[in-house]
Amino acid sequence: MAGLVRFGISLDQELSQQFDELLVRKGYTNRSEAIRDLIRQDLVSRQWRDGSEIAGAITLIYDHHQRELLNKITDIQHDHQPVIISAQHVHLDHHHCLEILAVKGKSQDVAKLADTLKAVKGVKHSTLSMSTTGKGLS
Ligand code: NI
Repeated sequence: MAGLVRFGISLDQELSQQFDELLVRKGYTNRSEAIRDLIRQDLVSRQWRDGSEIAGAITLIYDHHQRELLNKITDIQHDHQPVIISAQHVHLDHHHCLEILAVKGKSQDVAKLADTLKAVKGVKHSTLSMSTTGKGLS
């Protein structure tokens, strides 16, 4: 890690108070780590927007009794190699399955895959959690 840079920040009293309340809510023990995380979050959001390579997770909840659903989901996953780097299937109950896909690729390709899976009939809920590969962040 390169050397530390220290700088002061001027905030009006109300914003400073809101920031301190945020620290308490989020469990930060100091302002520096909170500011570092805010900066990182903005940099990661930029990676998502500009089509950089990102990493993340797609979750799917579906009823596996739905006709043809498993075949469709499997076909889509095979069609989107190598974006999917790992898959975990959990049987939640007699009907429902939870599938967690670890993904890595260009943000638009990951988002397209998530949208395609979400649109399959029988998928009851789906989320995409976009994160970062960690490159370009310290
Ligand atoms: Ni299952």
